[in-house]
Formats: sequence, structure tokens, C-alpha cells
Amino acid sequence: MNANSETTPRDPAKVQEMFGKISKPYDCINRLFSLGIDVYWRKQLAVSVAQNQPKSVLDLATGSGDVALLLQKQGYDVTGMDFCAPMLELAKKKGVKKLLQGDAMNMPFPDNSFDAITIAFGFRNFVNYELALKEIRRVLKPGGMVHILEFSNPSRWFCGLYYFYLSKVMPFMAGLISRNPKAYSYLANSVEKFPDAESLSWLLAVTGYEKVSWQKYTFGIVAIHHGSKK
Ligand SMILES: C[S@@+](CC[C@H](N)C(=O)[O-])C[C@H]1O[C@@H](n2cnc3c(N)ncnc32)[C@H](O)[C@@H]1O
Repeated sequence: MNANSETTPRDPAKVQEMFGKISKPYDCINRLFSLGIDVYWRKQLAVSVAQNQPKSVLDLATGSGDVALLLQKQGYDVTGMDFCAPMLELAKKKGVKKLLQGDAMNMPFPDNSFDAITIAFGFRNFVNYELALKEIRRVLKPGGMVHILEFSNPSRWFCGLYYFYLSKVMPFMAGLISRNPKAYSYLANSVEKFPDAESLSWLLAVTGYEKVSWQKYTFGIVAIHHGSKK
């Protein structure tokens, strides 16, 4: 799959409504479906951010605020932004200090505002990846870095088991424990349709980022992508 073939429409209103509906059990279900490994992946994102020692960080699509909280505890000036109010409520309860409701596709910040931007498991929901990367680049300061933690293309030997888990086991479990099993079918589907690591890196490069790189984790289930603004 390449970035151009990823044409599934992601209706922002539906995405917003869906995350609103699953906000309460969101953290628990994350831990359960990832067997707790999602905590490690977010920590690796924070490690990546630390390498450039930014002062101001925007955690985009912050959701229930786990990444924002991690970075806040490490002493950065962190703003968490999300377009789903119920998710922001969870982040507020956890203690994230600076939160803002807003759309990643059209951010309420002037050009050159942040030293770093993080996105954990939010990017694949954006309606247009190329426009999102351009908007992120606009609000990054020159020399600033974007760090995107997303699902990726796992190692070949692991694919069969992984896609069976995503398409069959996860929706089945979601049906047993959640009132919104459809939301988890959407999530599984969006993971399968998301561009592979090479394609996302290519998108970063063509939208003007430099020093583009990525690192895969846990058999390639996720990757953290990096790019800097000139
Ligand atoms: C899978 S959750 C990830 C939340 C959090 N970053 C984490 O690590 O758990 C995706 C989040 O992206 C948000 N989101 C999706 N599209 C967005 C957009 N265009 N603007 C702002 N937030 C968006 C959703 O509301 C949701 O809270």
C-alpha cells in the first residue's frame, strides 16, 4: 500500500462523534487490546522528543492526554489539543494543564509557534494527511520537529497473526465489552488502511520536512516518524 492508495474518507464529524462515544472506556480498552504495550510506545515517543530538548510542545489529537501528561511531567511547556470535548475532559481530570479544543487541520496558532509537535495514534484519523502535515509544519518553529507515533506495517512473519487479531479477535472482544463495537471495527479498519512506514516518510518529505526518519517497535506494529522544519 502507498500513501496515494489510502483514499478511505475519514469524515471528521463521525470521527469526533465516535471518540466522544468511546471516551469513558478509552484508556482501559487501549491497555487491554494492546496488552499494556501502548504505555511503552508512548514512553518511546517521549524519549524521541527529549533528544531535541524542546521548550514548547504541542500534543496534537491528545485524546485522554497520556502523552501530554508524560511530557508535562518531564518539564516541557505542553499544550494538548483535540477536537473531541469528552476526550479533553479525561485529559483535564488526569492533570494536563494546558488544553484546547481544536481541529488539527486548521489550528488556532500563529506560524512558528512550537519547538515540537507529537501525535500518538491520532494522525491516521485526519481527513487529509498531506494537508495535515502542511498545517503541522506551519505551526512548527524553524528547526522544530514533528514526532508521529502510529500503527505501521508489521514484519512479514507476524502479519497473518496480527491481521487476524485486528480483524477478528479485537472486534469480537469489543462486542463483548463495549457498547460501541462498531467503533473498534473502524479502528481496526483504519489501522489496516494506514500507509506503510515508507509511504508516510515519503509524504513527510514531499510536504517539506527534512531529516525524515522512522523507528519501528514491537515487530513493526507501530513506528515513530520524525521530520524537521527547515
Ligand atoms: C486514537 S485517539 C489517540 C489519543 C491519544 N493521543 C492517545 O495516545 O491515546 C485519536 C484522537 O484523535 C482525535 N482527532 C482525530 N482527528 C482530529 C482532528 N482533526 N483534530 C483534532 N483531534 C483529532 C480524536 O478526537 C481522538 O481523541
